[in-house]
Amino acid sequence: MKSIKIEKFGGPEVLEIKDIEIGKPGPKEVLIKNNSIGLNFIDIYHRSGLYPIPLPSGIGLEACGIIEEIGSEVNLFKVGDRVTHASMPIGAYSEKQILPEDKLIFVPDGISDEIASSITLKGITAEYLLHRAYNLKKGDKILYHAAAGGLGQILCSWANALGAEVIGTVGSKAKEEIAKKNGCHHVINYSEKNFVDEVEKIVGKNGIDVVYDGVGQKTFKGSIETLRIRGMMVAFGNASGYVDTIDVKKDINAKGLFFTRPSIAHYTVTREELIESAKKVFEAILSKKFKVEISKKYFLKDVAQAHKDLEARLLTGPAIIIP
Ligand SMILES: NC(=O)c1ccc[n+]([C@@H]2O[C@H](COP(=O)([O-])OP(=O)(O)OC[C@H]3O[C@@H](n4cnc5c(N)ncnc54)[C@H](OP(=O)(O)O)[C@@H]3O)[C@@H](O)[C@H]2O)c1
Repeated sequence: MKSIKIEKFGGPEVLEIKDIEIGKPGPKEVLIKNNSIGLNFIDIYHRSGLYPIPLPSGIGLEACGIIEEIGSEVNLFKVGDRVTHASMPIGAYSEKQILPEDKLIFVPDGISDEIASSITLKGITAEYLLHRAYNLKKGDKILYHAAAGGLGQILCSWANALGAEVIGTVGSKAKEEIAKKNGCHHVINYSEKNFVDEVEKIVGKNGIDVVYDGVGQKTFKGSIETLRIRGMMVAFGNASGYVDTIDVKKDINAKGLFFTRPSIAHYTVTREELIESAKKVFEAILSKKFKVEISKKYFLKDVAQAHKDLEARLLTGPAIIIP
């Protein structure tokens, strides 16, 4: 079967398509034929080495498919079940995959393979960011960076459905309309304007309850500036570079802020947490709280292009890879 592998860290050129023998699932594992694979910014961190992983390695953390084979001690699933996942071991960019059964999630009717593969990692992330890293309430004012992106589409429209006032930043004129469509009440083009000044015009000085910052280095200081006293800074990504130091006195103490740097793994520690979170995501979509639209589809052989596009900020919403 075909699978994308990397032998060294680097640019998109290190992604190689290989023919490999997949082998047999272990006692508590299943073999899945992937129908649709999610493209995520974390795949870039793994490829580039920003998040170091043992090499050689596969790439990809999110896919939906059908179980073809089960190990001798598997009891949660059977052959033919439609499942999705957003977890280690890395290697979703593959025609087939072997995964531990306890990382898998049943996909309900009404959710297509393509949608499932774009809302498992991003949807669960949106769920924990909105409900558990911070418990978003009606009327809260939020700032989300890169509001026309993959997670941006899901999180901003969900936050809007929860009754928050949503301010989104985007990097280009073309993305402004997309962010509005994603549920942002106000959109700021941070390539053209200082977003701190623009946020102040909308909600006043120190007016934001919670910032969701996945852009990182470029936006961190400004994000802190927009927050209210005792506001919440959720730093959850590094599209522009990793924020590895904070100045407690200046950044946190000055306004008594709360700060968290979470990962999806911290909010899906137990199987119960994983299933409960996925259930909330599926329910939100099936009850039409918000809609997910795939922005672009790539074939497995074109993943290098997919990475180039994602890094060049060309994608406007969740994108998938068809094996
Ligand atoms: N911690 C977690 O659990 C978790 C889980 C999922 C995702 N994430 C993080 O969430 C963020 C969004 O993920 P995603 O997969 O949905 O990606 P995405 O938002 O579709 O793409 C990243 C966006 O970041 C913006 N950006 C700003 N500066 C950039 C730069 N120098 N290079 C590239 N992009 C830049 C771009 O939007 P503009 O052009 O509008 O600026 C770009 O479209 C990422 O940081 C990701 O790591 C974290």
